[in-house]
Amino acid sequence: MPPQPFGEASIRPILGPALLAFAALLAGCDEAEPPPQLRIAGADPARGRAVITERGCGSCHVIPGIRGAVAWVGPPLLEWSRRAYVGGRLPNAPENLVAWLRDPQAISPGSAMPSLGLTEREARDAAAYLYTIGTAQPVPAGMVLGPGQGGPRAEARLRPRGDQ
Ligand code: HEC
Repeated sequence: MPPQPFGEASIRPILGPALLAFAALLAGCDEAEPPPQLRIAGADPARGRAVITERGCGSCHVIPGIRGAVAWVGPPLLEWSRRAYVGGRLPNAPENLVAWLRDPQAISPGSAMPSLGLTEREARDAAAYLYTIGTAQPVPAGMVLGPGQGGPRAEARLRPRGDQ
């Protein structure tokens, strides 16, 4: 067989598998494995994603990986696994997040987040999904970080507007 030029025909056989591998890589980034202290036994992040979609959390929050979750009523849940506090009240740990999702009004009466009546299982699954968001080091509750201590990122991904 004469040597083939490196054209469309020669890459076609590897294109499919390469795309699949790339898609798997992207999906992998989307659901990063959280650090051990943020794992929730028996909970399923994929089910949690469905709970978050069905309960309309995205009508108030920006939530990475949830279609249509682009609202700014409540705080954006970007880098959630890094966050130090839940609702500014409790350290961000699995049992606290689950309790918050089940009944935020019990933890922070008068908070603008309504209690949506999630079951224990729904709250655990939703919490498991939220902990897949954010890959850099978690920030411990109560810790004031100096410049460069927040993780490998040189500067915040969201910067304040420059016109203030
Ligand atoms: C009606 C709007 C609304 C809906 C719906 C809603 N939230 Fe919230 N959420 C808020 C507001 C406002 C806060 C801030 C509350 C506070 O700090 O007291 C909040 C706080 C949170 C926090 C803590 C954020 C932080 O910065 O500490 C998490 C996590 C959260 N919501 C997840 C969810 C999930 C998951 C759902 C769906 C099951 C949901 N929320 C539905 C408005 C909403």
